[in-house]
Amino acid sequence: MLNKKVNSFQQVGRNLIIPGGTRIIDATGKLVMPGGIDPHTHLELEMMGAKTADDFYKGTKAAVAGGTTTIIDFVLPNKGQSLLEAYSNWRQKADNKVCCDYALHVGVTWWSPSVKKEMEQLVAEHGVNSFKMFMAYKDAWMLEDYDLMVAMETCAELRALAQVHAENGNIIARNTEKLLEAGVTGPEGHQLSRDEEVEAEAVNRACVIANQANSPLYIVHMMSKSAVKALRIARTRQRPPVYGETLAATVGTDGTHYKNACFRHAAAHVLSPPLRPDPSTPEAIVQALADDDLQLIGSDNCTFNEKEKELGKGNFTKIPNGVNGVEDRMAILWQKAVNTGIMDPCRFVAVTSTTAARIFNLWPQKGRIAVNSDADVVVWDPRLERTISAATHHHAVDFNIFEGQHVVGSPQYVIVNGRVCLDDGNLRVVEGEIVNNSNWGMGETFSFMILVQSLLYQVSSKTFGTRLWPQELRICEYV
Ligand code: URP
Ligand code: ZN
Ligand code: ZN
Ligand code: ZN
Repeated sequence: MLNKKVNSFQQVGRNLIIPGGTRIIDATGKLVMPGGIDPHTHLELEMMGAKTADDFYKGTKAAVAGGTTTIIDFVLPNKGQSLLEAYSNWRQKADNKVCCDYALHVGVTWWSPSVKKEMEQLVAEHGVNSFKMFMAYKDAWMLEDYDLMVAMETCAELRALAQVHAENGNIIARNTEKLLEAGVTGPEGHQLSRDEEVEAEAVNRACVIANQANSPLYIVHMMSKSAVKALRIARTRQRPPVYGETLAATVGTDGTHYKNACFRHAAAHVLSPPLRPDPSTPEAIVQALADDDLQLIGSDNCTFNEKEKELGKGNFTKIPNGVNGVEDRMAILWQKAVNTGIMDPCRFVAVTSTTAARIFNLWPQKGRIAVNSDADVVVWDPRLERTISAATHHHAVDFNIFEGQHVVGSPQYVIVNGRVCLDDGNLRVVEGEIVNNSNWGMGETFSFMILVQSLLYQVSSKTFGTRLWPQELRICEYV
């Protein structure tokens, strides 16, 4: 998707021949893992009359600080807007700003035969291989079932992956009318308008429609136990695979915050689907990730400053939807899943990186440490302690939904495309360096070794020049 120069692993193994001048990073006692892949971000998005605080520079900077070296953002066309035009706008926004690799999903936010043609072109000419359809946001992006089915059939035909935002938008619209009439206008109304079954119904319906369309399906941001239950049943029932994604927010915080007396605090937690009031939700979601009832964890990073969230003071339907997470996704999951013994570190790598590479066709360049794969590496220190705070995070946003949480386990080194971007805790990124950096010419050498007890990983100077990725369309497990 992105024209870029690539540094890849040259040698991986024991007893390697080490070229002179090679820097040694001692990772004894640490874990070395492939760079994180966040499959769900919204950087520099205009939505509900507001613009996200994190642009492609600040958002990817925060990502790298937290161990994520690839993000997949969503092109979201306005109703009636050309998908190709929106795609090209996104490329313009991102290319000169990102400081890690990125790929793009494209939203099918309205339907007509011309949209189908544009999807074909996006796949054939731009390597797009995933499209998101909305079953909610009735006045903006929602598709009714007929259009949703045709869109899914189109995805299947194109061998692209259909994604859905699964909530019943019609029920939400009716509940919202009733709540506003009854005088419920605060952030708590957001949650009250869309309970778990409103999400679970849409998950089931999306699965049925995908099965009828003979299309694989990926359900983004799954937020509740009921939704996961519906997914689990569907996964045993249908032939084309269905995948589920949850969010850092879902495992790291909960729906009690909507009752906070401070508007800014409560509104900061407004996202769709909402966080759930059931206190057993976060642990159940972590367990589902560990058990492969859910496959991935994203962030849905979509940050709005206080000024933007205040657009919804007096009417919860006007609160721009979205939270942070791209920086803290990995540390939050480590804390809630690995430190609690629910998940082992290998599964942690699968749900934060490898499976995302496989599902979104970035494999084998991304998501693994092996010769010829991109040199994106995290040296994870399982003993590093820190307290999450908006005062110290790398986002542009003025609030952090994980504020005050103490986590044990964070990246010590983050290597992006063979460059040490987080160096023993010091973040060194440059705006736009992925695409613009002319120092990355052919033959440029970034040579260092990571020493892991007796196992050595060498990352060095092989530069392949410009190439296009993802190069071919393939959906794993569906042949
Ligand atoms: O509340 C959310 N999730 N905001 C971002 C847009 C979306 O639906 O993913
Ligand atoms: Zn969504
Ligand atoms: Zn507050
Ligand atoms: Zn989203």
